[in-house]
Amino acid sequence: MMDSFEFNKIAGAVLGTLLFLMGLGIFSGMIFHPHKPHTPGYDLPVAEAAAKGGAPAAAAAATPVADLLASADPAKGAATAKAACGVCHNFEEGAAVKQGPTLYNVVNRPIAGVAGFAYSSSLQEKSKSDQTWSFEHLNQFITNPKGYASNTKMAFAGEKNEGRRGDILAYLRSLAGSPAPLPAK
Ligand code: HEC
Repeated sequence: MMDSFEFNKIAGAVLGTLLFLMGLGIFSGMIFHPHKPHTPGYDLPVAEAAAKGGAPAAAAAATPVADLLASADPAKGAATAKAACGVCHNFEEGAAVKQGPTLYNVVNRPIAGVAGFAYSSSLQEKSKSDQTWSFEHLNQFITNPKGYASNTKMAFAGEKNEGRRGDILAYLRSLAGSPAPLPAK
């Protein structure tokens, strides 16, 4: 049988061990006190840059045709058009059609509207929905002829340069007895 003295010795040892472990916990907590940040977590520089800069800029939107015309130079457009379009188009009133129809008075003229010219079915189709060569439609067609009328007979890659395109449009506008009003901004 275990006498009370023996029991006290064991109990004392257990208690002592517990006290020692507690003390060790407190003591090591004092030494290795982890330094907690005030706000847990931090933004990675990359994520921050993305948040500030936003998504990579979407393809720059095309300049509205009214803005192109506002800063256009018809005299420059005449030279550009003669070089870029003159192989296939005449510009003077009453001039004969070449490979393409004459462009005198083309602004606000019905699309595919020159009598006797054999337009592509694509452009004839387009004339049903878009009807006339507004500055807007001309701008689209001259930017990318096949993008506007997929099977157009106009074998021209398109004038992608906005400055030159604006000049051409301003020149086309001048080819009339009374030039069409500029589109509202
Ligand atoms: C390689 C020859 C060629 C060149 C270069 C060319 N065109 Fe054309 N263009 C055509 C043909 C062909 C058509 C008829 C298109 C069809 O029927 O699909 C046409 C049609 C057009 C029309 C529609 C006319 C209408 O009566 O509906 C416009 C506007 C036009 N061209 C403007 C231009 C301009 C502006 C340029 C220069 C930036 C140009 N084209 C360069 C051959 C050309």
